[in-house]
Amino acid sequence: MCGIVGIIGVEPVADRLVDALRRLEYRGYDSAGIATITADGLDRRRAEGKLNNLAGKLANDPLAGTIGIGHTRWATHGGATETNAHPHIAGKVAVVHNGIIENFKDLLQDLARDGYFPQSQTDTESVALWVTRELDRGAAPRQAVANTLPKLRGTFGLVFLFDGDDKLLIAARQGSPLAIGHGQTEMYLGSDAFALAPFTNQITYLDEGDWAIVTPGKAEIFDFDGNPVQRIRQTSSASAALADKGNHRHFMAKEIYEQPETISHTLAHYVDLSEEKVALREDLPFDFAKLSRLTITACGTAFYAGLVAKYWFERYARLAVDVDVASEFRYREPPLADNGLTLVISQSGETADTLAALRYAAKSGQHIAALVNVQESTIARESHVVFPTLCGPEIGVASTKAFTAQLTALASLAIAAGQARGTISASEAHTLVRALVELPSAVSEVLRHEKSIEGIARHLARASDVLYLGRGQMFPLALEGALKLKEISYIHAEGYAAGELKHGPIALVNEEMPVVVVAPSDDLMEKTLSNMHEVSARGGKIILITDAEGRAQAGDGISDIIEMPRVHPFVAPILSSIPVQLLAYHTAVFMGTDVDQPRNLAKSVTVE
Ligand code: AGP
Repeated sequence: MCGIVGIIGVEPVADRLVDALRRLEYRGYDSAGIATITADGLDRRRAEGKLNNLAGKLANDPLAGTIGIGHTRWATHGGATETNAHPHIAGKVAVVHNGIIENFKDLLQDLARDGYFPQSQTDTESVALWVTRELDRGAAPRQAVANTLPKLRGTFGLVFLFDGDDKLLIAARQGSPLAIGHGQTEMYLGSDAFALAPFTNQITYLDEGDWAIVTPGKAEIFDFDGNPVQRIRQTSSASAALADKGNHRHFMAKEIYEQPETISHTLAHYVDLSEEKVALREDLPFDFAKLSRLTITACGTAFYAGLVAKYWFERYARLAVDVDVASEFRYREPPLADNGLTLVISQSGETADTLAALRYAAKSGQHIAALVNVQESTIARESHVVFPTLCGPEIGVASTKAFTAQLTALASLAIAAGQARGTISASEAHTLVRALVELPSAVSEVLRHEKSIEGIARHLARASDVLYLGRGQMFPLALEGALKLKEISYIHAEGYAAGELKHGPIALVNEEMPVVVVAPSDDLMEKTLSNMHEVSARGGKIILITDAEGRAQAGDGISDIIEMPRVHPFVAPILSSIPVQLLAYHTAVFMGTDVDQPRNLAKSVTVE
């Protein structure tokens, strides 16, 4: 994640931009920079490393100007150098960006044909060049940006500054958060309200797909299709310590919406996005090529992530995998294979059962790896190697962004294992990496259809029991969907392998019991369809989570369909998590439960 900020001021802005960036350093600090409009036009100062380096540079070489933008970087494309530091300037426009432009290479090829070439290795500069070319073709700044945004694929929070206009900033949001701050006459932009707290607590959050024309005392906001929209102006609760919910009623909703950004951010840790190759750290204390077996152990949602990973490691790396709930694992006293790796998965890194399982495996001589969201946690400290999920603090008790970050990391590790063991070719690996790179924009698209899912949740809210079905790598998603629903709405739900339906659970099916089928089109779809017919034939109401191809195959007799974009089957479990999460969330909202802190639960179960 990166931090971005902008100020349309009446006083000089350089120092305040740096102050705001200090409050955004938690989002990344490989380099930083600011740009303003001075008497001589657009100018900037940038520095590698921590923000103090930039502050030092400004102390020696100040930057005037009452309008400016700033950025603190967590490198994705291109090293942490000054050349790659934002703001990027091309011609008459400066831009700062948080996210990943997946099609930047295509954009640069198109631009090169007209003689526009980048100075840096970043994806961001392609955006600055595209806007500049629009300006050179005679478009005004607003139209230049409006012409550019539809060309971008991926995730972005963007703020543009235009030479010669010290009363205009243009901002755009897709998959990365952006907030507008309202001053008396000054106006502000930032990655979150926390960055703007010293200037104002009057905040308007942009929604997915929004873009905004910001001028002194005014912000005009437009949706993805360019229609003017109104967004709530609120008094932010953000302060020095408090995270806030942004535009959302609950932290869980905010965290569901953070997933395009958190998936991108976690992916950028495992994948060289310029080369589109998995690039793990060199000093791993084990060799995937020589591992005899992989044991995965975790609890709850983290356990379900491990179940998905089993399909990936076995299919792509031909590595045998055992997965077990941590609370059972050590009491079984499992014999663990020599030269085996035990991977523990834990968002908090403090779950007592998972920690105890780790200690059992360590005593058995296993290589120990931990996939955690809290790098300084107990589990991390007791592991031989830590694989991080980089999704920031997860406040909602129901795990959402941590789950998809876990899956993103596990998918990357499975590709690395397959390449190390020679079970997938470089081109197969690239196809799988490409599927991961394109995933955040598919997640953004599902989020844009939240309203339809909210409507379907009304049916679930009337049920007393719900069945979730999935086949293959979607079976763990059926388990996760059932867990999400029951833990926040208190409705009883069970997840089953679809093939198991006829071995008992079908006795439960009647008109009163909704059956949620998680089935993007894949090579098992035919079999899942017959399960759905078995349910419909008994009056069961089916809610099908699929894609356009799955919808066509399913035909009639389905009560509700949640259609997702079609993605490579490899990443379908990650994308399917989003509608599963939204379905549970909106059902719980209808039930009026405490979504962020459901009864009887805790965010981290540090007791057995
Ligand atoms: C997830 O929605 C649950 N709240 C819970 O099952 C959680 O996944 C489990 O307690 C494991 O927590 P951890 O990832 O912090 O170890």
